[in-house]
Amino acid sequence: MVEKLVLAGPASVELGKSVAGKLGLGLLEHEFRQFPDGESKFRFESSVAGKSVFIVQSTYPPADQHLMQLMMASHHLSQEGAKVTAVMPYLAYSRQDKEFLPGEVLSLGVVAHLLRAAGVRRVVVVDIHSMEGLSLFSFPIYSVSAVPDLVGYARAHLKLTDPVVISPDFGASKRTEAFAKLYGAKMLQLSKARDRETGEVKMGQGYLEVKGKDVVIVDDIISLGSTATAATELVLRQGAAQVVALCSHALLVGDAAERMKKAGVKTIVGTNSVPGEFSVVDVSDALASHLRTLEE
Ligand code: R5P
Repeated sequence: MVEKLVLAGPASVELGKSVAGKLGLGLLEHEFRQFPDGESKFRFESSVAGKSVFIVQSTYPPADQHLMQLMMASHHLSQEGAKVTAVMPYLAYSRQDKEFLPGEVLSLGVVAHLLRAAGVRRVVVVDIHSMEGLSLFSFPIYSVSAVPDLVGYARAHLKLTDPVVISPDFGASKRTEAFAKLYGAKMLQLSKARDRETGEVKMGQGYLEVKGKDVVIVDDIISLGSTATAATELVLRQGAAQVVALCSHALLVGDAAERMKKAGVKTIVGTNSVPGEFSVVDVSDALASHLRTLEE
């Protein structure tokens, strides 16, 4: 039987340890340093030849740095004879999965090529932005859903009365539908339009049945918070009682959380795919369950 190990990458030390603990696997010993100029350095002493290594390394901002660290570790370990699985709870560049404007670089495809060239044999992510992104990988990639854990958290910790679950755009609808179904709540679909040049978000919507209701916005990513802010303003204008925003990946860039709170979002909830103040839902069980199903 092939020995399996977990490398808890510098971006996901706690999550990596937790996944290893749940799988009953040892952690791959290593030294890691970051130099003042931002460059990273790894040193591995133990032999990994013939072993299977799960590198747990999320690629939240600084995305390029976290990606580079993952590729450095993968390249070395695969050269030493390990079978490398990249466990990337947040997959950077997943929103750049198509050419929205002529001439735009298909960045997720570039990431896929680079990972492959760095010796990655399979990838496991949490809630990829869009299933279309999977097709840019010429080797196995799996997207694990955080929805059951988000539902579990909402049930246990958010005091919601007969909530309405909102999908802020069509891209989010499948995930939101799954959330609503599992929670046992009604779902409403908003139609978001984002200006591809400026990034400005507009919510075009008529009457919504949200008066006096608790509203749960469910999305894959909260980045600048523009989507959640626009959705919140819309439902509050239509009489919603309170708004909570749940997501798989709470990037919350800059003052996103403050903007959302100012717009009236009562609670923000994310998972530990991206460590942070609002990342209260643990995806280590979901990841461990999936990794258990993989051969060697
Ligand atoms: C877009 O399609 C995604 O699903 C999210 O809605 C988006 O990435 C959120 O970004 P922001 O928080 O900057 O509006």
